[in-house]
Amino acid sequence: MKVTVVGAGAVGASCAEYIAMKNFAAEVVLLDIKEGFAEGKAMDLMQTASLNGFDTKITGSTNDYSKTAESDVVVITSGIPRKPGMTREELIGINAGIVKSVSSSLIEHSPNAVVIVVSNPMDTMTYLVHKTTSLPKHKIIGMGGALDSARFKYRLAEALEAPISDVDGMVIGGHSDKGMVPLIHHATRNSVKVSEFLDSDKMDYVVQETKVGGATLTGLLGTSAWYAPGAAVSGLVQAIANDQKKMFPCSALLEGEYGLNDLCIGVPVILGKNGIEKIVEIKLNDTEKEKLHESAEGVKKTNGLLDV
Ligand code: NAI
Repeated sequence: MKVTVVGAGAVGASCAEYIAMKNFAAEVVLLDIKEGFAEGKAMDLMQTASLNGFDTKITGSTNDYSKTAESDVVVITSGIPRKPGMTREELIGINAGIVKSVSSSLIEHSPNAVVIVVSNPMDTMTYLVHKTTSLPKHKIIGMGGALDSARFKYRLAEALEAPISDVDGMVIGGHSDKGMVPLIHHATRNSVKVSEFLDSDKMDYVVQETKVGGATLTGLLGTSAWYAPGAAVSGLVQAIANDQKKMFPCSALLEGEYGLNDLCIGVPVILGKNGIEKIVEIKLNDTEKEKLHESAEGVKKTNGLLDV
């Protein structure tokens, strides 16, 4: 299994590190446009191999896509992150150009790869890859829901005063502060609905803190987060590499599922060696359905800013 990660910045390097630490890939190529940057990050990471006990070979490349040839999975993290007070949607101008050129170079050298899009605004960048490449739809996946769900579980565990391994929950919808739909009425603690433990104020608090999870970190860090995003991407890559058929909420092209068409938005999918093996349609209540559709309108509005 060969994985390429484009963008050796905060998220790309963290993603490469988690992939290596999980020891399932033979090779990870980090590629960045900044001269020497990816080579430096790769060398630094390789010098942790004997300390952390992994055999994955990590190499770096300054914009030489021939080094990425025949990758099984490619991850796009190149682009600018948001600063405090910015929305993810405001990044579209710069990031659309980057994602378009990077995805085309990647696919030229790895025509059979599964593509994972991370750059923001992620749902729109995923849609852009669908619109501008000839890859089949099951091979284009946007990462957002896996991260948002991890943040949801963190907030659930905090409110429940429970260990994180006791809680389960999922966030669907667009990967934006307004568009996220944390499925609080489906969330559980050891298979018992969290509504058995939390009053409505606490449940509202969990939902609200989940939705602004990225903004909270951007405020604290001065830029967007990287550990949890990197870990979330590595989970998706591992599910594909090991054909795990694991379910994650991911941004997928919808063609009628959930009553939605012609956009990429976060819904539960099964990931395996082919990428998206199946889009799972879970039963949503009327409020959840309404929120998902509102979220879709927001994503479509951002998609409308694309020049495709
Ligand atoms: P960063 O600034 O640390 O790294 C971005 C890297 O991309 C830089 O090293 C830059 O040189 C490189 N780059 C820019 N243009 C390039 C090109 N044409 N080819 C190759 N490399 C290029 O940013 P960070 O924090 O790693 O974030 C990356 C992206 O991921 C941002 O758009 C951010 O908003 C997004 N993000 C998405 C998340 C999600 O859940 N989908 C979570 C966190 C961040």
